[in-house]
Amino acid sequence: MASALRVVPATPESLAPLPSWFPTPEALAQWGGSGLSFPLDARQIEAMLAETRTVPPLRLAFVGLVEGETAAHAQVVLDWTDGIARLARFAVAPTYRGQGLARPFLADVFARLDAVGDFPRLELNVYTFNTSAIALYESLGFVREGVRRSSVKVGSARWDAAIYAIIRER
Ligand SMILES: CC(C)(COP(=O)(O)OP(=O)(O)OC[C@H]1O[C@@H](n2cnc3c(N)ncnc32)[C@H](O)[C@@H]1OP(=O)(O)O)[C@@H](O)C(=O)NCCC(=O)NCCS
Repeated sequence: MASALRVVPATPESLAPLPSWFPTPEALAQWGGSGLSFPLDARQIEAMLAETRTVPPLRLAFVGLVEGETAAHAQVVLDWTDGIARLARFAVAPTYRGQGLARPFLADVFARLDAVGDFPRLELNVYTFNTSAIALYESLGFVREGVRRSSVKVGSARWDAAIYAIIRER
């Protein structure tokens, strides 16, 4: 599977399948936070991509293609002032999950981040119930720095968000 993976910048066309990956408001919020409205649509996708076209870019966005099909997606939000990159909106397509795609995809995304600039701090937020994502991030060396308790409202629920980061040597 991993050998067939090709990572390229995201386009409106390659992100067109994304709404189908998140069939409920909870699934959408788990991936993209509470700032998105359900269902995900082309207008919200375009707003994300617009931030990849600023100079310098505020955001990077990539897709992982397997035989031309969009199998993974991730964004990296860039803080150029302090050299902080935040992995965001990372997902593997439901039909490709559990096949070992996440690690090679993220490795390529982080290599592309390094090609764009110097970001010694790489961070991310993940909901504390998201045990599969947390297992992945911890295995990659991300360190839990704290939990923002009850920080996100999804429907009538409130979710705890854990903050993770790696301080990277270059
Ligand atoms: C998190 C997610 C990206 C993992 O993708 P995946 O394709 O299932 O992951 P992989 O098969 O490549 O496995 C990579 C690692 O993830 C972890 N993992 C994946 N599925 C897991 C599960 N069911 N239970 C525990 N850990 C799991 C493991 O650490 C695994 O490594 P290992 O196989 O060496 O143990 C995927 O579940 C997803 O897209 N979830 C919905 C969106 C989301 O929550 N994104 C994260 C937002 S912070």
